Amino acid sequence: MVPSKREQFGSSLTFIMAMAGSAIGLGNIWRFPYMVGEHGGGAFIIAYIVCSAFIALPCFLCEAVIGKRARSGVYGSFEKLAPGSKWKWAGGISILACFVIMSYYSVVGGWSLDFLVRSLSGGLAPGRPDEAVGIFSKMASSPLESITGFLLFLMATALIVLGGIKKGIEKFTKITIPILFVLMIALVVYSLSLPGSGGGVKYIIEPDFSKLDASGWACALGQAFFSMSLGVGAVLIYSSFMKKDERILRAGVWTSVSDTFFAIISALAIMPAVFASGLEPGVGPALVYETLPYIFASMGVETPVLSAVVTTAFFLAILMAALTSSISMLDVCVEHAVEQYKCKRWMAMLLFVVPGIALGVPCALSFGSLKGATLFGLTIFDICDFLCSNILMTLGALVFALFVGWRMKKADVQEELNGPLFKVFYFMIRWVVPPAILIIFISNLL
Ligand code: PHE
Repeated sequence: MVPSKREQFGSSLTFIMAMAGSAIGLGNIWRFPYMVGEHGGGAFIIAYIVCSAFIALPCFLCEAVIGKRARSGVYGSFEKLAPGSKWKWAGGISILACFVIMSYYSVVGGWSLDFLVRSLSGGLAPGRPDEAVGIFSKMASSPLESITGFLLFLMATALIVLGGIKKGIEKFTKITIPILFVLMIALVVYSLSLPGSGGGVKYIIEPDFSKLDASGWACALGQAFFSMSLGVGAVLIYSSFMKKDERILRAGVWTSVSDTFFAIISALAIMPAVFASGLEPGVGPALVYETLPYIFASMGVETPVLSAVVTTAFFLAILMAALTSSISMLDVCVEHAVEQYKCKRWMAMLLFVVPGIALGVPCALSFGSLKGATLFGLTIFDICDFLCSNILMTLGALVFALFVGWRMKKADVQEELNGPLFKVFYFMIRWVVPPAILIIFISNLL
């Protein structure tokens, strides 16, 4: 079943690092903290941990089983494992979702790039925390700045994907994650030392469950899927490059634990500073980009040189983490086109990057000139994010779970995922995960 020509990850460690690289990104650093702020602090974190451990992790394993077994793109995997059936359309929807996420994710990636350039040129108001808070809204509402950042980020993603899975991704992730880890911990410590930060800690450790309604649970589940890159084929595609003897469970547990850890330390770094700076935790996507400059500018009051170094290192690390995620999105699309249309890699890339620009530009403008273009109160950017993380990713993960639980032969699943916990996993994906996803999904719609 294994085509001899298919590239493979060099070692177990590189495979796990690539998975973690896809998972750890703006979803943890940018999206998770503002979700926590919008849905009641600590209570949301608890809902998130429950969803990650009991729903997202089994879904991760399902996607990995399909990818490892079929060794194809998302659409091609369903075709291979269930020839002639309609399952492949689910693969088509995953590719569409990946494409949409890539387009708006690159806008946020572009902000990091912009902030990196600003930190290098002293443009983040070092030493002047009150001024630093307003920098983001000026930057995001400037069409020239936000579109330039978006385009450069998307180009960088495309170039890395063109380099091929091994050459491009392996080198990258091994450096990014450890750097980000150290910087994040340092930031938590600093943020906790800011005057007034206690409110943020209280906000996280004293959960207010009355704020956690059906929509909170749906967002926690959507966030768990977003953060673990699930339901859109990213895990499937990387698993299709896995060595035959690679242990899926180990990769899943490592990815899940490191990803959840990163999300929580991001919230711990951001929330105390939100309270110290007097910002509102529920402001949405702008939260982290308004708060981080405040933290760094405060640092600059007493230690300007340290602040400059930490700021630059931090935005560089966020940028790299964002890139290791965006390359997995584009890779899902490119592998599909190469496999199905037999085209060259660069052609496949253009096929998705050009429409990606057409969709990403209005997303970038959603924070400026297209701010007023809304539907049900959501901007174009918000619609793309809501559609993907609350609907398509959730349904995608459900389809992968149903496929492994009810369509694949048990013996085939067991061959890919053998181990002491197989029985628990198999029970979960048949009887627990699909109903849980459906209950959370439907109760949110009612
Ligand atoms: N998991 C990535 C993050 O947290 C985002 C992502 C979504 C990556 C979907 C791939 C596919 O930033």
